[in-house]
Amino acid sequence: MDLDKVAGDITKVLVTPEQIQSKIKELAAQLDAHYADKGVLLVGVLKGAVMVMADLSRAMQIPVQMDWMAVSSYGHGTQSSGVVRILKDLDADLIGRHVLIVEDIIDSGLTLSWLISNLEARGAASVEIVALLRKPEAAKVDVNVRWIGFDIPNEFVVGYGLDYAENYRTLPGVAVLDPKTYS
Ligand code: IMP
Ligand code: MG
Repeated sequence: MDLDKVAGDITKVLVTPEQIQSKIKELAAQLDAHYADKGVLLVGVLKGAVMVMADLSRAMQIPVQMDWMAVSSYGHGTQSSGVVRILKDLDADLIGRHVLIVEDIIDSGLTLSWLISNLEARGAASVEIVALLRKPEAAKVDVNVRWIGFDIPNEFVVGYGLDYAENYRTLPGVAVLDPKTYS
């Protein structure tokens, strides 16, 4: 669905589809260079990372494998608690593998910091992160995100995988949701 179809629900487009696609190509080239000699298992966290995973994996020119996890963080409301439950685990064995977690957005970073320790404990040779978006809060947590697409302000955004109540995931760009849409 094109962004103009939801013009009444959003206040502004933060990252255009063109900016995303050009950044994806740039990141893919860096990842190709980094993993050329060792291979890489891309791990996507459902469901937000679906779009980044689909575009990034296809922009990469080295062979990659892909696997998925679904997690849910315990806690109330919109605050992430850092306590995580695995809803769907990986199929792959991680022993000796170079793992790259592919994420849509890093906000508090709590889920991610749990995920890194969890995957490292399974014997991965390395665990790195690529995220399309990062909010300012993420800077406060000690999570080393090696590849970042865009730093964005602390606003609630939708599109390119990100949802509000399961809507707007298929928008090709990232936009700020008008507060009137959820009040
Ligand atoms: P955290 O980094 O553990 O706080 O969790 C990040 C997760 O919260 C992301 O993977 C998204 O699913 C969700 N999230 C954070 N910020 C937004 C937003 O602005 N819009 C939609 N989902 C968001
Ligand atoms: Mg996510």
